[in-house]
Amino acid sequence: MNHRIDQLLRNNQAFVETQLRLDPGYFTQLAMGQHPEFLWIGCSDSRVPPNHITGTDPGDMFVHRNIANLVVQTDMNMLSVLQYAVEVLHVRHIIVCGHHGCGGVKAAMGEHSHGLIDNWLRTVKDTQQFYWRELSALDEDARFDRMVELNVIEQVNSLGKTSIVQNAWNSGAALALHGWVFDLHSGRILPQTGSIESSAAMQEICKFANGLVGH
Ligand code: CO
Repeated sequence: MNHRIDQLLRNNQAFVETQLRLDPGYFTQLAMGQHPEFLWIGCSDSRVPPNHITGTDPGDMFVHRNIANLVVQTDMNMLSVLQYAVEVLHVRHIIVCGHHGCGGVKAAMGEHSHGLIDNWLRTVKDTQQFYWRELSALDEDARFDRMVELNVIEQVNSLGKTSIVQNAWNSGAALALHGWVFDLHSGRILPQTGSIESSAAMQEICKFANGLVGH
């Protein structure tokens, strides 16, 4: 049973040897500290490893992951990561990345109970309800894909409303938010928003400005 775990440790040994061959000072440099330019808020799904799909290295990206890549305003874990990334590490970009085929979004779209996680996914149900007019016109597969995209847009919206991002913008910090969807079928990242660098730019993706509210 442990041979799979042993394999991971052997892989790690190979990683060390490869890195040292490429650059004998690699780990000395890594140990000196981190200055990541990006904060990644993504899904816990094993098929969406942020460094791997973006060609980034250790040290490039501060990472927070949870089921369905949610930015929940009362999530102390996410808020702590966000505050540290923005106020201490001074990241320049925050990427919220969802993915087509997201099990969390799928679970939220259904009517079955999945236990505790129903509470976590509650805001995804809210998003579905909010955009139901648009979603109800789509077939099941298209609706699922669209929900993943709308969920990302909603999470970017939620991110931009946090006191941490608002304070950063108000103090003149250069901080850009981005909403992406990773398409599992093609491996491509599909941007869902432009680069959002101010409260004014937030309004463009804000649900109250997109004409869908109230129908
Ligand atoms: Co997912």
